[in-house]
Amino acid sequence: MPTVTLIKGDGIGPEVVDAAIRVIEAAGATIEWDEQVAGVTAVERGLETLPPVTLDSFRDSRVCLKGPLTTPIGSGFRSVNVALRKEFDLYANVRPSKSLVPGGRYDDVDLVVIRENTEGLYAGIEHYIDTKRSAAESITIVTQDASRRVIKFAFDYVAGRPKQHLTLVHKANILKYTSGLFLEVGKELADDHPEIEFNDRIIDNMAMQLVLDPHQFDTIVTTNMFGDILSDLCAGLVGGLGMAPAANVGEEMAMFEAVHGSAPDIAGKQIANPTALILAAAMLCEHIDQAEAGDRSRAAVERVLLEGQVRTPDLGGSATTVEFCDEVVRALERIPTAEAVR
Ligand code: NAI
Ligand code: MG
Repeated sequence: MPTVTLIKGDGIGPEVVDAAIRVIEAAGATIEWDEQVAGVTAVERGLETLPPVTLDSFRDSRVCLKGPLTTPIGSGFRSVNVALRKEFDLYANVRPSKSLVPGGRYDDVDLVVIRENTEGLYAGIEHYIDTKRSAAESITIVTQDASRRVIKFAFDYVAGRPKQHLTLVHKANILKYTSGLFLEVGKELADDHPEIEFNDRIIDNMAMQLVLDPHQFDTIVTTNMFGDILSDLCAGLVGGLGMAPAANVGEEMAMFEAVHGSAPDIAGKQIANPTALILAAAMLCEHIDQAEAGDRSRAAVERVLLEGQVRTPDLGGSATTVEFCDEVVRALERIPTAEAVR
C-alpha cells in the first residue's frame, strides 16, 4: 500500500480534505496516510511553518495531498505553498478547469493552465529600498532552464489532450527580458513540435479573450504569477473556485491540492464545496497507479453535479460539505468497477 503525506491545511482545508479522502477510499483507493502539519496549524502547535518532520515525510513518500494553507497578507511569514513548491522543485502546476455544472456562463469549457511554479515574480526576492520604507522592489527571475522544462512539460501534456493546441501567455511587449525570454524558449520548442498548434497571447488580452470566448483555447502555459491569476479566472468560468483542482509536479515528486485557498469567510460553516479537492485526490490516484479509483471518484462527482439535486451553496444549492460528500459516495454504488464490468 503506498504511503502518501497528508496535510489537511487551514480554514476549510480539513472539511474538504476529509470529504476527498472519504470519496477516493469509497472508490477503491488503498493508501496509508502519513498526516503532518504545516502553516498556521504548525505555528499554533509551537512548530515552524514547515516543520522538518513534514518535509521528511514528503521527501520519503514523494506524494502529498494538501489542503489550502493560509498566508498572512502584507507582513508575516512567507507562503508555505510557494516554499513547498520550491523546496521540492515541483516545477509544473497543472490546473484543469472543466465545466461540470450545466447552466453557468458556459456549459462546455475544458481548459488546462500549466503554471511555472518555481520562479518568476514569486521568487520572493523583495525588500524596502531604505529604512523609511519609502519604496520597495521585487525581482522577477526567469531562467532558460526553468522555462524550457515547464514549456516542454506543457507540449508533452498537450499530446494527451483531445485538442493539440498550446497557448503561451506572456507580457513580452513590456517585460522584454523576463517575459521575452519565456516566449523565446516557447517559440524554439514549438519548432520541435510541428504537430501541435502553438500560439501566444499577451496576458491582458488573454484575460479578456478567456472571458469572451474560452473555446478558442485548450492548454495554456505561462509564468508563475500570470498562471496564478489565470487559473482563478478559468475556475470562474466553470462555476468558481470550488471546482478547480491542481497538481504540482516535479521530476519524482508530486503534490495535489485545490486551486482555491483556505476561504476564511466560510471556514467552519460546513458549506465549502469539496469538488476541487475530490478532483485533486482523483489526480493523485492516477499518479500512484490507482487510476480506477480516480476515474470512479471523478465519475461520481460529475454525476452528482449533473443531476443537480445536491449541491453546495456556491453552486446555488443548500447541501453541506458532508451531505454533498455522502451523495457522491452513494453515487459510487451506481458506477461499476472494472471487475464488475468483466
Ligand atoms: P480563497 O480561494 O480562499 O477564497 C476566495 C473566495 O472563494 C472566497 O469567497 C471563498 O469563500 C470562495 N471559495 C474558495 N474555495 C471554496 C470552496 N471550496 N467552496 C466554496 N467557496 C470557496 O482565496 P483568498 O480569500 O484570497 O485567500 C484566503 C487564504 O488562502 C489566504 O491566506 C491565501 O494566502 C490562502 N491561499 C492558499 C492557497 C493554497 O494553499 N494553495 C491558494 C490560494 C490562497
Ligand atoms: Mg492562487
